[in-house]
Amino acid sequence: MYRFALKVYGCQMNVYDGDKIRSALVARGWREASEDEADVVVLNGCSIRDKAEQKVWSDLGRYGERWAREGKPSVAVTGCVAQNVGRRMAARFPWVRFVSGPRHIGVVPEGLERLMEGEREKFFHLDDDPRAFLDLPGATVERVNRWKAFITIAHGCDNFCSYCIVPYVRGRFVSRPPEEILAEMRVLVMDGVQEITLLGQNVDSYGQDLPTAYSFSDLLRAGVDTGVRRLRFVTSHPKDFTPDVVEAMAERDDVLCPSVNLPIQSGSDGMLKRMNRRYTVEDFRRIVSLLRSRLPDLGLTTDLIVGHPGETEEDFQDSLAVLREFRFDLVHSAAYSPRQGTAAALWADQVPRDVSMARLNEVNELQKEIATEINRALVGRTVVVLLDDVAPRGAGMLQGRTPSDKVVLVEAGEELLGRFVSVEITRGESWCLTGRIVAPAE
Ligand code: SAH
Ligand code: SF4
Ligand code: F3S
Repeated sequence: MYRFALKVYGCQMNVYDGDKIRSALVARGWREASEDEADVVVLNGCSIRDKAEQKVWSDLGRYGERWAREGKPSVAVTGCVAQNVGRRMAARFPWVRFVSGPRHIGVVPEGLERLMEGEREKFFHLDDDPRAFLDLPGATVERVNRWKAFITIAHGCDNFCSYCIVPYVRGRFVSRPPEEILAEMRVLVMDGVQEITLLGQNVDSYGQDLPTAYSFSDLLRAGVDTGVRRLRFVTSHPKDFTPDVVEAMAERDDVLCPSVNLPIQSGSDGMLKRMNRRYTVEDFRRIVSLLRSRLPDLGLTTDLIVGHPGETEEDFQDSLAVLREFRFDLVHSAAYSPRQGTAAALWADQVPRDVSMARLNEVNELQKEIATEINRALVGRTVVVLLDDVAPRGAGMLQGRTPSDKVVLVEAGEELLGRFVSVEITRGESWCLTGRIVAPAE
């Protein structure tokens, strides 16, 4: 029996792939262990910014000592980071013995077994065909979270935003057949999953490449019929967002959660154009009005980049202005990080790092104020929360999420994990809510 450890970095797509790898290995008789005991450490890493890659490099350095002593662990680098820099990692560290990109997840279990059985050469699964995809069939029955699960509904991305590595590492946009997704959902529901999040870099274009007419809102409606208690999705691209999705959400608000991540990236039309985003702030405004008029309890989050090449002080002020205007519940903010191979990395007008960092601070300060105001205004409200994990701090505390996807901390025993409860909000801070359970919600 072989032992594996699994570390996952990056977005929910990587978490899903990690859960798939874990499920497949466990099904073959492998056991999950700590890094210190594992025969193989699987590092499923991200490449979105330099910092994400550095995390994997720094992990890799740490295995040398045990490798010298015991000849273990062999390291498998997978995910987007593998596609981007896996060869370099394998060249630098002898313990990196297996490298496969996110489009070759299907080769991982068997490849790792061959490694354990003594194959000596290093394994590389990184072919350049951006349409090739080797999946791992089956649902994620061995998950990081027992009550919540992710399902990728479409692989890759065709948008080629100026700054972004995703189309290069995850390849072309390919929708998975609806039957396959729905079958996976049913297995998860049987396995006790209460909440499913459908994943894609651009879920709004789901189905456009399928042989028969089938849209994202069709998938949402069919998803509701699988019997899952809560259904969510990320990420929506403003250029492809369609009103039928809002209609489906309004119609089935008992299951479809009113939470949308709509990445704006910049508040300046000039920047949006250079970023190749293909919408304007006015387009974005129209979508937000529609969402907020139809879904009064909507949780709206966004992604924003500061310091993209060519970003002037005026462009930056426009970004602060959209934060004030739209009052997002949460902003995933980032300082631009040049990614080799993308268009923007080659542009001459790079913004100095200290300017980007100062802008990032300013964004975070402003957003903290806005989120605090929004969350304080929720004090006294009663919301239904799915208790999905123990809270990171404080014994006897659980955490859960509101339908709008806000984190709520409550005092509760672990026997309530996986349950829906009604919670009265007693405190609101910038990043989370605190409440007390007033009734079971079932
Ligand atoms: N598909 C989603 C985003 C996926 S990447 C969309 O279209 O919005 C997640 C986030 O990482 C992006 O929204 C962006 O804000 C950030 N990001 C991507 N590339 C980046 C880069 N080179 N530097 C800094 N942030 C980046
Ligand atoms: Fe990247 Fe743009 Fe695709 Fe999002 S839509 S994954 S930002 S290329
Ligand atoms: Fe990172 Fe790949 Fe996701 S680069 S953000 S893990 S799609």
